[in-house]
Amino acid sequence: MNFPPEHQNYLTQIGLAGKQLGYPTYVVGGYVRDLFLQRPCKDIDVVCVGSGIELAKQAAKMFENASTVSIFHHFGTAMFKVNDLEFEFVGARKESYRSDSRKPSVENGTLEDDQIRRDFTINALAISLSPHDYGTLIDSFEGIKDLNNGIIRTPTDANITFSDDPLRMLRAIRFATQLNFKLHPDTYNAIKTNRERLKIISAERIHTELNKIIMTPVPSVGFKLLFDTGLLHQFFPELSAMQGIEERNGIQHKDNFYHTIKVLDNIAQTTNNLWLRWAAIMHDIAKPLTKRFEGSLGWTFHNHEMVGAKVAAQVFKRLKLPLGDELKFVQKMVALHQRPMMLTKENITDSAVRRILFEVGEDIESLMTLCQADMTSKQEWRVKKYREDYEYLKERMTAIEASDQLRNWQPPISGEIIMETFGIKPGRPVGIIKDAIREAILDGIIPNNYQAAYQLMLQKALEIDLTPIK
Ligand code: CTP
Repeated sequence: MNFPPEHQNYLTQIGLAGKQLGYPTYVVGGYVRDLFLQRPCKDIDVVCVGSGIELAKQAAKMFENASTVSIFHHFGTAMFKVNDLEFEFVGARKESYRSDSRKPSVENGTLEDDQIRRDFTINALAISLSPHDYGTLIDSFEGIKDLNNGIIRTPTDANITFSDDPLRMLRAIRFATQLNFKLHPDTYNAIKTNRERLKIISAERIHTELNKIIMTPVPSVGFKLLFDTGLLHQFFPELSAMQGIEERNGIQHKDNFYHTIKVLDNIAQTTNNLWLRWAAIMHDIAKPLTKRFEGSLGWTFHNHEMVGAKVAAQVFKRLKLPLGDELKFVQKMVALHQRPMMLTKENITDSAVRRILFEVGEDIESLMTLCQADMTSKQEWRVKKYREDYEYLKERMTAIEASDQLRNWQPPISGEIIMETFGIKPGRPVGIIKDAIREAILDGIIPNNYQAAYQLMLQKALEIDLTPIK
């Protein structure tokens, strides 16, 4: 096997370092898989039959600009960086390989012992770096066959592989989605059987894999697998609860799970913003909670946007996703996702458009992207009509924005000016005047400038018995 020319020298030198210590040395795991898939990879895992720590120290001496060697005695691993490459070294072991395993590696093993305890056959390929057979592929578990056939399969009994590290069930689905591979039936069935064991995995590890699925070009593939295997129910029950269609009096509502993952696929075509993709996942999340059948109206989901924003916070908290600006953004998108659609109706005033620009501020494009992704009707004419309506709304928004500049808008009269003018401290009257000015501008009653706002301030102050101090 040929390595990329820019990696050749490093890998040869590491093989020589191994020889100096008398260790058979191999490159293994994701790097080898990605080499065959022609995907760029800068994390290089090296395994040797010997001490990974000693090999790392020896290899680092070969490179002038290698970083210092970080040693993890507990895990028996060591790593260093050279330029943009990161090398990690480990001795072959009989213990399961897990980068963050709490268990130290106790028993040394052969290369094959090491390969069999890795997660999937496509990740268990090794290429020798030792000078005498440099470049030879060691494919002990038909990894190449699985790579060629597009199969995710564990090297040994999947129940063993998954009990060594239940996160691998999620990794299986992540790889299937990223690489557009199929799960081998044994692997698929073992995920179903062992799904509840995911409960012992930390939220951070789960969300890292989930985010990788979300960032693939067609994430619905992964979400369908997560649902079908029952994994989704373990860590994201709010989403699995959306599956299903109910019928009453001959009226059905749509399956909100399949709708949601379709919206996610749609948005994946237009944005790489992870949090906007999360907003797509969450936009209807409270539909099961707010669902009612109301006689003449049929199925309703009153206020699902506002309830959905609250559910988003619960989900982010449980999955230990960031609770700062990222969550705020997702909540804002969920809370407002119905608004642009309402603005496509007839007789919508400029002030209604102005209000949404003011409320959404700089996230208006994101909100429009979400609304457009939310059109999943199978009726072509309907989609066409929505599309035209949105285009028209966007034009109106652009025109109003150009004249009023409401993004990141601050009313021309601040609280400080009000307090100074009337010699008052912060309190209710300041709020009353500020609100009146903001509302008058948004409603188009006064123009958006200092002069007009100042006049309105004086007028409003009179009404509440305030007089300027000078
Ligand atoms: N591995 C494993 N079980 C895990 C994690 C990792 O067996 N739970 C092994 C696999 O052989 C994997 C290698 O460790 O190829 C490196 O793991 P990692 O860097 O997490 O993943 P990659 O396979 O390199 O893929 P990616 O970079 O896309 O995460």
